[in-house]
Order: sequence, then structure tokens, then C-alpha cells
Amino acid sequence: MRLIEALDYATEELNNCCESPEFEATVLLEEVSGKSKEEILIKNEILLKGVFKNFEKLITRRTNGEPLQYIIGKINFLGIDIFVNQKSFIPRVETEFMTGYAIMEAKLFKNPRILEIGTGSGAIAVSLALNLPDSLIFATDISIETLGICKKNIAYHQLKNQILTLCADSIKPIRLINQFDIIISNPPYIPEEELQYLPELVKREPRIAIDGGRNGVFIINQILRLSPLLLKKNGILYIELAKVNIPYLDIPEDLNFEVLDDHLGKKRIFRGVKK
Ligand SMILES: C[S@@+](CC[C@H](N)C(=O)[O-])C[C@H]1O[C@@H](n2cnc3c(N)ncnc32)[C@H](O)[C@@H]1O
Repeated sequence: MRLIEALDYATEELNNCCESPEFEATVLLEEVSGKSKEEILIKNEILLKGVFKNFEKLITRRTNGEPLQYIIGKINFLGIDIFVNQKSFIPRVETEFMTGYAIMEAKLFKNPRILEIGTGSGAIAVSLALNLPDSLIFATDISIETLGICKKNIAYHQLKNQILTLCADSIKPIRLINQFDIIISNPPYIPEEELQYLPELVKREPRIAIDGGRNGVFIINQILRLSPLLLKKNGILYIELAKVNIPYLDIPEDLNFEVLDDHLGKKRIFRGVKK
């Protein structure tokens, strides 16, 4: 079988299970064949039997509902490779937006000390570290399993000296009072009442990464309550959230705040500054 035939076969197979069958088929064929999209289409070489068998296995995983990113094992986040697996949340474009915003503001601090809560794969922490070489980052997560993939990303990007990981529940165990210039988090924020209506693909991600409890604000409000203690004066807190969370936020008086829109014009980033 030739590459284009394999591509057509896969596109057909994926037709009923994903929104962009041709795109996903191409990504999977690139992965399995080691060829770029251009090479596949222009050279149209013969695909060895064994390689086709592996390709079929990947297609079956996808038709069984596994997210493409877990099959490939990595994503591109702000231009860098981030490894992901079934134990970690798949970073989203909205989070790239918040991280880009935080990088821009963090450049105004000298040797910024940054705390990330709920680091997951470490996409935010790694991007901050690469863009802010004079920063020191503490990255926490309640899930020891996701910290495994986070550590793999830290090692891959050679950031062991710049990012310290900690398995912790929210920010309760952190005792570094008035130490941080920046706190950033993309916590679980889907209201528990809405979890059952999520697309099947999202349900494949770890529940602990998406379940925000009642009204989606369980972790958000813990962070809001405690972060003024940990931030330096004029330190900044960024939290990714959804519009539905906003009426239930428990915002401390010692924070000036605004809620910024994301790239789609949706209320998405809580930005608080410690008075
Ligand atoms: C939406 S995911 C975000 C992951 C990553 N920061 C990103 O943006 O792709 C939320 C993360 O928070 C972690 N988490 C959930 N509850 C937590 C808690 N109480 N304390 C710390 N981390 C928590 C989850 O394990 C998950 O990795």
C-alpha cells in the first residue's frame, strides 16, 4: 500500500468519530511513518506492511475514542513540545493565551519567583521557565502521576535547576509567606453539575483535572483566599476560569482584580494584583 492510499483509508475510518478526519489521519500517519505531510503527499512511497499494521493500531485507538494527543504522546504548547499521557490533562489554547500574557508581565520583574498550582504536564511552568531564564518556579499538583510526566518535560527542556515540583493539595502546604511575584493556575473549573454533558473526548481526561466541584469554584476559591498571603506586594495572580464561575468567586479585599477575555473574546483570565 502507498502512503496516500493509507491516508485515504484512515480518513474514511475516522470520518464518524472526529471533526477533522483528514487532519488526524495525517498526524497519525506522520507519526507512524516518520514522514512529513509534504513527503507523504509528494513522494507517496510504499508503506511497509509492519508500519501499516502499527498505523491500523493507532487508528483503532482513535476510533475507540482515545484523544489524538494521548496517542501521539505530545502536543505543541507556545511553540515547544510538551509530552502528555492519560494521567495528564491536555493543555488548551486558552491556557497558551494566559501563559503568554503572564510571560509578558513577568518580564517586568527581576528574578521573578513564580508558583504554579495544578501544573499537570508542566506546560505552563516549562514555558514560563524557557521565556524567563532568571525566574525560579515552584510547580505543584495533587496528582503524583501527572507529576511524573511533568518531570519528564522539565528534564527534556533541561530546566531541573529552574523548576521545583511538589505534590501538594492546592496551596495549603506552602509556607513561603510573601515570597511570590506571580502565582498562576489553570485549576479544575468545570462545575460538577456539568460534567455529565462534557464531550466524550474530554471525559477521557483525568477527572481530578476538570472537576471544579460545586459551581466549578472549589479550587479557585482556595487559591483566591490563600494567594494574598503568598504574594509579595504588587504580585500578580492569574487564574484560568469560565464565565459560569464568576458569580461564585470569593475575592479577598486585598486583591485588585479584573477578568480578561481570551482569544475568542470569552471571560477567561482572572488577574488579581496584591494591594
Ligand atoms: C485543568 S488541569 C491543568 C493542567 C496544566 N496546568 C495545564 O494547564 O494544562 C488542572 C490540574 O490541577 C490538578 N489539581 C486538581 N486538584 C488539585 C488540588 N487540590 N491541588 C493541586 N492540584 C490540583 C490536577 O491534577 C490537574 O493536573
